[in-house]
Amino acid sequence: MRLLVTGGLGFIGSNFVRWSLAAYPTLKITNLDLRTYAGNPANLKGMKGAARHRWVKGDVADPAAVDRVMRGVDAVVHFAAESHVDRSILDASSFLKTNVTGTQVLLDAARRHGVGRFVHVSTDEVYGSVAKGESKETDPLLPNSPYAASKAASDLMVRSAYITHGLPVVTTRCSNNFGPYQFPEKALPLMITNWIEGKPFPLYGDGLNIRDWVHVSDHCRGVDMVLRKGVVGETYNIGGTASLTNRELVGMVRRIMKVPESLVVPVKDRQGHDRRYAVDCAKLRRLGFKHSTTFETALRATIDWYRENAWWWQPLKGRGDVKAYYKKQYAGRGKK
Ligand code: NAD
Ligand code: DAU
Repeated sequence: MRLLVTGGLGFIGSNFVRWSLAAYPTLKITNLDLRTYAGNPANLKGMKGAARHRWVKGDVADPAAVDRVMRGVDAVVHFAAESHVDRSILDASSFLKTNVTGTQVLLDAARRHGVGRFVHVSTDEVYGSVAKGESKETDPLLPNSPYAASKAASDLMVRSAYITHGLPVVTTRCSNNFGPYQFPEKALPLMITNWIEGKPFPLYGDGLNIRDWVHVSDHCRGVDMVLRKGVVGETYNIGGTASLTNRELVGMVRRIMKVPESLVVPVKDRQGHDRRYAVDCAKLRRLGFKHSTTFETALRATIDWYRENAWWWQPLKGRGDVKAYYKKQYAGRGKK
């Protein structure tokens, strides 16, 4: 199989590329990635099957670049996106270009080239905040952040490509991922790396927002299952095994890392901060999906990975553009 993966230098995309090349000895992957602030070739360092992988630097919103890489492709797995909610609150423009226009450019090219399957990797955030129960794939989309709104728009473009043009699409909507190679601006890698450095972790608001945590390897296995067994035109939720308030998460990581409470600093809340996400994964389980690890085991392994791989995250945290982002992010925010 010849696969086009988009965003394969990012956190989940690189884990997917690494996992897939090891799992399928004849698989070939073209990886279209613009290498934005979040894209990092070091994420693929030392991977098995590297000779069957080719990174092409390019923008998913650039029709000519997309057309070139789409030739001869059997299937597309589309991860490329602007993915950080806090950045979308500061400026949503790149979210619209990459997440909405980029998805549309890919769908059009996939149709022109007769691609056999298009897997669109989306998020549980498109359902909005759910006070009780679990979101089903048929629930209405009620996104709240600019990031979530751009992902919901892309989901609807994917749906329209299926209904109008018959493109063989499948969509996944996953909950909060964690694991190796996650850019250290997201809550868990920020918390772990700050604490390794003896710095505080900024806890937004009252810390009672609930997220459902899934190890990235299970997300990758879920995406692969949908690629191979999912029903065309359908959407599949992919959830985790640990529904936790941020306070509970902080408490668990503090206990494992033996960090004092003084390194948790409450700060002003994120604007429009969704209170709770939860997805019903029965549909994916009917395809045969099972989680491969427990939350605590995967969390301990993740903490160990960041402890052992400071070479990977330290240069990212020290970068000028990352420092400039935090300056903007905390301008006028500060402590509660
Ligand atoms: P990430 O920010 O770590 O990586 C995004 C990748 O996309 C980077 O390599 C970046 O260079 C690339 N990219 C960005 N704009 C591009 C463009 N215009 N053209 C080509 N490449 C571009 O993101 P992630 O956390 O790995 O998320 C991957 C996908 O999974 C996203 O679609 C996201 O919405 C979805 N998702 C993420 C999570 C999560 O918890 N991180 C959960 C559910 C769904
Ligand atoms: O639910 C899936 C989504 O999960 C993905 O679609 C997104 O791409 C991904 O970034 C993630 O979004 P969240 O906003 O849930 O993740 P984040 O790691 O930014 O925050 C997790 C929780 O922690 C959230 O309630 C906000 C809080 N938080 C976050 C940061 C960065 C803090 O309290 N302090 C922080 O510094």
